[in-house]
Amino acid sequence: MKNYETEEAWRYHNGTKHPNGFLMDMLHRHRPASRPYPYKRYKDCPKVALLPDKSPGKVSALDAISCRKCNTEDIVPDMALLSKLLYFSGGITRSIAFPPPLGRVEFRAASCTGALYHIEMYVVCSGLAGLEDGVYHYDPRDDTLDVLRTGNYLGVLDEATAHGPATSRFPAAIIYTDIFSRNSVKYQAREYRHAFWDCGTILSNSLAVACAHDIPHRLIMGFDDSAVNGLVGVDGKKEASIAMLALGSTQSAPPAPPPLGRTPGSEQAEYAMVSEAILEMHESSSLQSHEVAGWRRQYLPDGQEPSGPTSMGKEQASAESIESVILRRGSTRRFAHEPISLGQMSAVLGRSTCGFDADYGSGTISDVYVIANAVEGLESGSYFYGKNSHTLEELQKGDLRDASGHLGLDQSLPYDASATVFFLTDLGKLLALYGNRGYRVAQIDASVAAGRMYLAAYALGIGATGLTFYDDDVTAFFEPHSRGKSVMFMLALGKKSKA
Ligand SMILES: Cc1cc2nc3c(=O)[nH]c(=O)nc-3n(C[C@H](O)[C@H](O)[C@H](O)COP(=O)(O)O)c2cc1C
Repeated sequence: MKNYETEEAWRYHNGTKHPNGFLMDMLHRHRPASRPYPYKRYKDCPKVALLPDKSPGKVSALDAISCRKCNTEDIVPDMALLSKLLYFSGGITRSIAFPPPLGRVEFRAASCTGALYHIEMYVVCSGLAGLEDGVYHYDPRDDTLDVLRTGNYLGVLDEATAHGPATSRFPAAIIYTDIFSRNSVKYQAREYRHAFWDCGTILSNSLAVACAHDIPHRLIMGFDDSAVNGLVGVDGKKEASIAMLALGSTQSAPPAPPPLGRTPGSEQAEYAMVSEAILEMHESSSLQSHEVAGWRRQYLPDGQEPSGPTSMGKEQASAESIESVILRRGSTRRFAHEPISLGQMSAVLGRSTCGFDADYGSGTISDVYVIANAVEGLESGSYFYGKNSHTLEELQKGDLRDASGHLGLDQSLPYDASATVFFLTDLGKLLALYGNRGYRVAQIDASVAAGRMYLAAYALGIGATGLTFYDDDVTAFFEPHSRGKSVMFMLALGKKSKA
């Protein structure tokens, strides 16, 4: 049971800490000219056009991300909805021509470290009106599906998820894979964290669009890795499945799947060498089919809540649709020193930390810490946010801009921002429960909440950006409250500078 030899996860996590992680090569320099081509190309593969409807829908982004009215009835999504889901999760939303050697970069619906776009999406489905049963790869270049297999292969996922009652009966699933080298070319061994950060931001869009269209959905992190990899035709070493989103609901159990032949070949040029540290961490957190049922359980956060809490006041409202917010989203490149309001902060924190259905529990297990640099109605200082009571506990008073900037790798973005938000997790507790697979859970769970935070910020007319951080300095900064917790994600919020 390699999964429960959790020194592997600790070795990876401690070895990839900024500034001196022992698994990273400090002399390495990234050259923009060596940016890998960010699209997967199949050879001789039939295609199906998607034609996603990009017009704004009726559900506001704030309602969609907080998923307060989620459907659990039997619903099978159709081709039109699938098209929309894929586009608003990983489609191209804008492009910018940079001077050489970088050239034109096509930006996607969700944020991604270094804009390296290493997460691919596959669909496994049956009974969707307008689409033949099969296994497909999403190609965002022209919004098409590469047809990898035809036939009903949901039985493979049923088996790979150990026939879980709540996981086995879905008519469609999106499988998210990571092409490790596309991102490790810049971020080296820390890439395996980015796999979940960048998958999590995509997932937050997928969850929101599914919710806006009343489609039942469930994030599945526990599955037989090699069975899912085999189904979508990836080797698990250069490209590997890391998360699955079950979509829709049906009473009928899937039939026995057709035999698994080969999937069409893709161009291997996009795959380069992958660091041993990534491969080891992935391997040690992989599950076999007999382990999956025993692995799946419900994490019960300890419900730590603020003492002497400060009320967050009334949330600012926004009616802007989830679709138009996703189309407008982009990471803020420069923040003004102007304040945001407590109502904006309240809506951002409250909406993005609502639970969602996952096979490890009901979402947002990380603890949320905040540095308020300029929030009107809130004294500058550091805070712990209580997700259940929706209140803040003041930890330290005063102007903490220097600390905010330092913790975000001494960049000006976290220094200038109105607030910085940190997701911290009790990794020891999570790993004891879920083994090394718990490392994947810890990272993805925080990243989904952070992805929702991006969307909430844009819905409220403010800006946001993900950030990387000095791991131990963040934990030390919030001590003693944060003692024993590890940082999973950092995000800055604020008004965009017009300069
Ligand atoms: C987890 C995460 C960490 C990031 N860290 C940084 C960072 O440290 N500094 C920075 O300037 N941008 C950072 N970014 C922003 C990315 O560079 C940005 O998402 C990417 O260029 C794509 O652009 P877009 O978000 O505007 O679509 C981060 C993004 C994410 C998702």
